[in-house]
Parts: sequence; structure tokens; C-alpha cells
Amino acid sequence: VFLQPVRHYSKKAAINHVLVIGGGLMGSGIAQITAAAGMKVTLVDQSQDVLKKAVSGIESSLGKVARKQFGEDKEKADKFVKTAVELIQTTTDAQQPAQFADLIIEAIVENLDTKKTLFTSLDKAASNHTIFTSNTSSLSITDIAAATKRQDRFGGLHFFSPVPMMKLVEVVRIEGTSDATFDALFDFAKKVGKVPVACKDTPGFIVNRLLVPYIMEAVRMLERGDASAEDIDTAMKLGAGYPMGPLELADFVGLDVCKMIIDGWHKNDKAQPLFFPSPMLNKLVGEGKLGRKSGSGFYDYK
Ligand code: CAA
Ligand code: NAD
Repeated sequence: VFLQPVRHYSKKAAINHVLVIGGGLMGSGIAQITAAAGMKVTLVDQSQDVLKKAVSGIESSLGKVARKQFGEDKEKADKFVKTAVELIQTTTDAQQPAQFADLIIEAIVENLDTKKTLFTSLDKAASNHTIFTSNTSSLSITDIAAATKRQDRFGGLHFFSPVPMMKLVEVVRIEGTSDATFDALFDFAKKVGKVPVACKDTPGFIVNRLLVPYIMEAVRMLERGDASAEDIDTAMKLGAGYPMGPLELADFVGLDVCKMIIDGWHKNDKAQPLFFPSPMLNKLVGEGKLGRKSGSGFYDYK
């Protein structure tokens, strides 16, 4: 007789209203796919200008998705875009909509203290049943969750850029995450058309623990003058079959985001050479060259 693995079945939480905090690259993508899957979304950022930009980006991305899905049928494509956009509300106040959200997905700046301050206030404002998640690239979910009293309703939902295109979501479980919460997050990832994988709360989870040191090694190769940026990128695209080269990808992710990730890991593990900061990356970020979003980085986009 084989023993079956123990599994605790519990009542699943229904997710109908999602509060997405941070309307930048990631938050706007997450808001888009959530609305496209038929759920109500409230998108929060610090200014109306950012929110306006987010909504126009969402509309244009939905337009691309619709063209792919409905081809020449313009009526169906327009209806798809309109229906999704109408499900998205925007505001600069996270507290009020937190009362009505079933799920909160945080996608603000990659800074532990800023994220903790946000979650402390949300913990007071949100309903008891609300599940909290962070889309952090590199911080510990356990450290972020420590700002709240809802360890059982806390987890990581890590999406990839560009959110509408990338199929993966890493669902991160901390010690306190309940089975009901974990199952609800797995189901949510499937509902928005993604493939979820289960991750422990280790630095970089699965993808970034491999991808970020690889990007940093490419930057170091450029720093040493071993090859040009173009040649490094061409080599990895044509020699390893990657859709983008590592430097092109760093510009795409955001050089500030790359720097915040590597600096954080270096602070926690000074001896690990894979986590060493890079003078070239630091200089670019210092000059405001953050990659595609700022118009230049390793390459120019103007
Ligand atoms: N919204 C909707 N559709 C989009 C889109 C968007 N934002 N971006 C691209 N598309 C569509 C295009 O319309 C196009 O559609 P058709 O095939 O119908 O023409 C299709 O996607 C392909 O786009 P492109 O031809 O412009 O470009 P591509 O074939 O090179 O694909 C890509 C673009 C999907 C971004 C691809 O280059 C890729 O996979 N790049 C690697 C991305 C990656 O590694 N992301 C992970 C980053 S790490 C991360 O996110 C984690 C972290 O924490 C830092
Ligand atoms: P981004 O700079 O494009 O957007 C962040 C947004 O958060 C900005 O619009 C900013 O105004 C807003 N913001 C900052 N503090 C806020 C607050 N207190 N309340 C409300 N809004 C606030 O950054 P991004 O690339 O979208 O990254 C967001 C998060 O997602 C980070 O934790 C990052 O590590 C993670 N992430 C990034 C990528 C990527 O490829 N860039 C991929 C996966 C995960």
C-alpha cells in the first residue's frame, strides 16, 4: 500500500476584484490581463499622469492582443478592448478600494521599506478575507509579509515582462501561506492565462536566480572589453536561441530594476562574485539611463 501525499483541501477564495498597486511596466500589464480575464481591477499609482499613461499603454497592448485573436473581425476586436478597459478603474488612493478587493497585487518600486510601509497601511484598510501578494523580483516575501498580520493570506505572484506575452507566473509560498491561499493564487494565475510554478521564498525564486547573474556576467564581459554589446547580444540570440540578448534584455527590464536586484543580493551575500555590483551599470543608472523606459541604456531608443 502506497501512502498518498497529504493534501489539505479547503474552500477556495473567489477572486472577482483585484487591486493592483503600481501602474508602471509590470502593474499595467497585470491590470490588463486581469481585466481581459473578466475580473474587476482597480489600478493605483502616485499620480494621475502615470495612471493616464498606464491606461493608454493597456489600450494599445489590448489592441495588439485583439488583432491577434480576432484577425479581421474589427467589431469583435473593439468589443474585447472596450470590455477589458471598462473593467479597470484608476485612483491614487489605495486604502479605499482595499476594502473591496479579494486580491491585492503590489508592483511598486523594488525597495523593502517602501513595500513594507504600503503593506502595513493596507493590512489595516483591507477586508479580512483579502489575499496580499507582491510581484517583487528579488526581495524576500517573508520580509515583506512581516509588515502585516496576515501571514496565512500572503504570498508571491511573480510575473514576467512583457506581462501580456510571457506565459509564466511564479507562485511563492512562505511558511505561513495557507493551502487555501496558495490554491487561490495558482487558480488566479491560470485564470489570467498563465502557467504557474511553485517556488520557495529563496532569492530570485527560480527564473531571476538564473537570469540576473547571467545578465550581470554579460555586463562584466562588456566592461572588460571582451566583446561589443551588439556582438554579445547577437551571440546569445543566434548561439543559444534566446529571443533577446542579455544587454537588450537588461534595457527591457530596466537598468534601475537590475541594479536594485543585484545591490540587494550583494548586501546579503558579500562573498558571492555572481552578485558583485557593476561600475558600468551603476554609471548608466546614475546618468538616468534606465533602458527602454528612459530612452537609452546599453542602446539608444530615441
Ligand atoms: N502587448 C501585446 N502584444 C505584444 C506586446 C505587448 N506588450 N509585445 C509584443 N507583442 C506581440 C506583438 O504584437 C507581436 O504579435 P504578432 O506575432 O501578431 O506580430 C508578438 O508579440 C511578437 O512581438 P515582436 O515581433 O515585436 O517581437 P518578438 O517576436 O521579439 O517578441 C518578446 C517580443 C515576447 C518580448 C520576445 O522578444 C521575448 O520573449 N523577449 C524576452 C523577454 C524576457 O525574457 N522577459 C523576462 C524578463 S525578466 C522578468 O520579467 C523578471 C524580473 O523580475 C526582472
Ligand atoms: P516601474 O518603475 O515601471 O513602476 C513602478 C510604479 O510604482 C511607478 O509607476 C511608481 O510611480 C509606482 N509607485 C512607487 N511607489 C508607489 C507607492 N507607494 N504607491 C503606489 N505606486 C507607487 O517598475 P516595474 O518594472 O513595473 O517594477 C515593479 C515591481 O515589479 C518591482 O518590485 C520589480 O522588481 C518587479 N518586477 C519587475 C520586472 C521588470 O521586468 N521590470 C519583472 C518582474 C517583476
